[in-house]
Amino acid sequence: MKKTMITGTGRYLPPRIVTNNDLTKWMDTSSEWIQKRTGIEQRHWVEEEGGTGPADLGLEASLIAMKRAGWTAGDIDLIIFATLSPDVNFPGSGCLLQYKLGLESTPALDIRQQCTGFLYGLSTADAFIRSGLYNKILLVGAEVHSTGLDITTRGRDVTVIFGDGAAAVCIEGIESDEQVGVLASSLHAQGEFAKSLWLEAPASMLNPRISEKILDEGRHYPEMDGKLIFKMALKKLPEVTIEVLEKAGLNLDDIDLFIPHQANMRINQFYQKTMNIPKGKVFHNIQRYGNTTAATIPLAMDEALEMKLIGKGSTLLFLGLGAGVTWGAVIYRFAG
Ligand code: UT7
Repeated sequence: MKKTMITGTGRYLPPRIVTNNDLTKWMDTSSEWIQKRTGIEQRHWVEEEGGTGPADLGLEASLIAMKRAGWTAGDIDLIIFATLSPDVNFPGSGCLLQYKLGLESTPALDIRQQCTGFLYGLSTADAFIRSGLYNKILLVGAEVHSTGLDITTRGRDVTVIFGDGAAAVCIEGIESDEQVGVLASSLHAQGEFAKSLWLEAPASMLNPRISEKILDEGRHYPEMDGKLIFKMALKKLPEVTIEVLEKAGLNLDDIDLFIPHQANMRINQFYQKTMNIPKGKVFHNIQRYGNTTAATIPLAMDEALEMKLIGKGSTLLFLGLGAGVTWGAVIYRFAG
């Protein structure tokens, strides 16, 4: 039977590093506040002059992942691109990446599930592979947040969290009798809380979609009810963990590494304590990158592989919660 296997990973961060102290030049905040409340010490942002989008960052990450998987662009059957900060409103960043890869007709699909974009993307890739429709899928999570943030005190609660970056995985259907690959997925959404973390304008439900008034009111910047999202994460992440473990027929102890979305280190520390998981089994890299939304989970996996925290035979549990509100978890096992 075909199993959905990850055969290559890659990450790319733009070279410009913005420290917490750098942010204090533009807004009333402090490195202590940011570090204490979020765990973040620095993030990468694209150059201020613009001209770099998620498809550019995604291309760099994809080239690394493809090299490691032994793929050329022509091998790709489908591109899935997860982002909440698309290069342009339309077409999707997947189409832009497809062209940058030199491809002419390979299908490209954008996933707009924000912090759970990688989880939705991996589950979608798994379904396509198991259906037999596609066999080699490039899944990319990439964001350029920095060009769309309110870099003043008004936006400080949101702005200090976000970083730019990309990560990519090559996913292949491989025949195996072993219990490997994507073992189980659980995905959820609760649109009731859509406005708790959203970016409203430009919006087709507004006429005009953008105006001086909207700009003055800052409705073109992301807005978040941080406390609500925080509390939902503390409740939903343990719940979805139990759910996905049951689906896979596994126990907490069977997981070698938990790779959560990196939104706030405190959320992941609460999760580790609530679930009674040994500290070293929950991966953190938010200190260095901030919240890169759709990129956080594959970026963390790529680093964990490099750090040799995981490898042949390792079982991973990916999980996250964010805008939508959406949340989910996927269990993945590397071949032994
Ligand atoms: O990936 C997307 C999913 N997002 C999340 O999971 C985010 C979840 N939420 C959070 O991570 C936290 O809610 C935040 C880090 C965003 C905010 O932390 P908080 O502990 O909830 O702070 P708060 O918004 O309740 O604000 C507490 C105080 C306020 O001041 P007063 O009213 O107590 O005087 C804020 O004005 O901290 C102030 N504040 C700041 N101070 C310095 C808010 N942002 C900042 C800042 N620097 N950047």
